[in-house]
Amino acid sequence: MKKIILFMTCAFVTSTVLADDLSQYQSEARAVAMPFLKKLGAANQQAVSAGGYEAAVQICKDIAPAMAGEASRLTGWKLTRVSLQVRNPLLGTPDAWEQKQLQDFAARAAQGEKAETIEASEIVSEPAGKSYRFMKAIALQPGCVACHGTAIPDDVKARLHSDYPHDQATGYSVGQIRGAVSIKRPL
Ligand code: HEC
Repeated sequence: MKKIILFMTCAFVTSTVLADDLSQYQSEARAVAMPFLKKLGAANQQAVSAGGYEAAVQICKDIAPAMAGEASRLTGWKLTRVSLQVRNPLLGTPDAWEQKQLQDFAARAAQGEKAETIEASEIVSEPAGKSYRFMKAIALQPGCVACHGTAIPDDVKARLHSDYPHDQATGYSVGQIRGAVSIKRPL
């Protein structure tokens, strides 16, 4: 009897500690992901209003990966942008956990959840160790449709076709989930 009580107490303590850690990790991940998205959205808006594919493409092609790289170096966590329909397969292809979350995000959005508020987090064990994983959906904004939307201007379409002949990242409408910011923090 004593043994069982002891076991139950331990299990309870472990799960509360985990829940506390999880919410702390979650707020720390949000504090990195949110400014990243905000900065990116603002830079994109600015580039789009300045006009031209060349200026705006810089944001998605150079600035976003550079910002993700900087955040990764400074935090020691891996920060990336992933999607189920990628333009750049090298940077954007999701791993198994990310694919599962992106599918779940799509189902949640179909149930009426707003893309802007959709996120997921979990502590995951993999062969090389444990990590805290966090994902936040990226919603398509009006400034994104010229390159990811349904009516892409002909000159942009031609450029995209020559730069990314296997592009899958088109056909989105405003508010739809374009992909997600993904954070992986080793524990
Ligand atoms: C001027 C064209 C342009 C605009 C505007 C644009 N993108 Fe992109 N986007 C691209 C290109 C080009 C890539 C591929 C970049 C690379 O080579 O890594 C890309 C890649 C991405 C990716 C990475 C995953 C993938 O498919 O490779 C995400 C996520 C993304 N864009 C979201 C957005 C969002 C959200 C907006 C609006 C805030 C936006 N983009 C606006 C051109 C654009």
